[in-house]
Amino acid sequence: MSRAAVLCGLGGSLPERIVSNEELAEQLDTSDRWIRTRTGIGQRHVVAPGQSTSDLAVAAGAQALASARATAGQADDGVDLVDPVDLVVLATSTPDRPCPATAPDVAHRLGLGPVPSFDVSAVCTGFVYALATAASMITAGIAGRALVIGADTFSTILDPADRTTRAIFGDGAGAVVLRAGDSGEPGALLGFDLGSDGSGADLITVRAGGSRQRSVPGPAAEGEEFFTMDGRPVFTRAVLDMSRSSQSLLERVGWSAAEVDKVVAHQANIRILNAVGEQLGLEEKQIVANLDRVGNTVAASIPLALRDAVAGGELQPGHRVLLTGFGGGLTWGSAALVWPELETGRPHR
Ligand code: UT7
Repeated sequence: MSRAAVLCGLGGSLPERIVSNEELAEQLDTSDRWIRTRTGIGQRHVVAPGQSTSDLAVAAGAQALASARATAGQADDGVDLVDPVDLVVLATSTPDRPCPATAPDVAHRLGLGPVPSFDVSAVCTGFVYALATAASMITAGIAGRALVIGADTFSTILDPADRTTRAIFGDGAGAVVLRAGDSGEPGALLGFDLGSDGSGADLITVRAGGSRQRSVPGPAAEGEEFFTMDGRPVFTRAVLDMSRSSQSLLERVGWSAAEVDKVVAHQANIRILNAVGEQLGLEEKQIVANLDRVGNTVAASIPLALRDAVAGGELQPGHRVLLTGFGGGLTWGSAALVWPELETGRPHR
């Protein structure tokens, strides 16, 4: 047994407003049928005017902290029930502003005091990268308890006229609490596989707003402030990289694909999830999917899928769980754990 980061709290938050496929079809040249058959998405949640990524991150973080307190109380394991976290890592690529990071504001609003807090930017792989960062800081002894949040509001950066991206992306936040424990405990993060390929940087991007565009005199070209994605090559890479990353982590952890109870992959497209399942030789019941209700929520996608799978009874204590994500960068990453007993309360929407 060795020191490890152990998952001990889970929460999530979605904005109130739901945009159905039918509502999108009233505004754009698309249809419920196209969106459902090509992506598996039925609706997505969208922030109200004035609502931002930090608002969702604070709500999800508060819920994960409450879950960690309730779990500690239930287990009666001697952990101080109001034990605060000493690290906040926020995965987002839609920060409240380009500078500074959004995490310090989130930590402040959660009343966590002067804890170290910073953002991690890896688009849809952001949550897995943030989890690996926080877990490493815990195993290194730099932190004892960490709040890890994935939060994004892509509705704020989409081109209102782009039917493809508007059909896919939704807003949301998901969060977990990690504590120091040992590698033999349920909830211990058993390993990670992470990677990137910057040659694909243009495939998923917002061209304007960064130092590259701002170092050129004059305003950005029209439309460059919007998010763009080259869907087809991204689809192919998502399948390939999540499958390879999952496979290499499974080898490292010593599990066969058949021994995994639940694969919680980034919720990009149901056809991508099924193709990854095929590559790994998984059965349908092993694959968790909630994208029909929330769409692709970017960094929030994996923790929201975990939250919904727990709430629906699909994910049970003792299950062997593989998390895998893929996103802009390009980036990818996977993590493995045995699901712990958690007190999560009622899901907040
Ligand atoms: O989260 C980060 C990772 N992101 C992903 O993994 C997303 C990966 N990509 C995808 O999920 C899919 O490529 C999309 C859902 C984005 C697109 O689906 P596709 O089956 O690859 O469609 P396509 O891009 O090849 O387009 C096929 C047709 C095109 O029309 P034409 O050129 O054949 O006339 C598109 O213009 O479908 C059209 N189309 C739509 N039609 C109705 C694209 N979006 C829509 C839409 N409604 N919303």
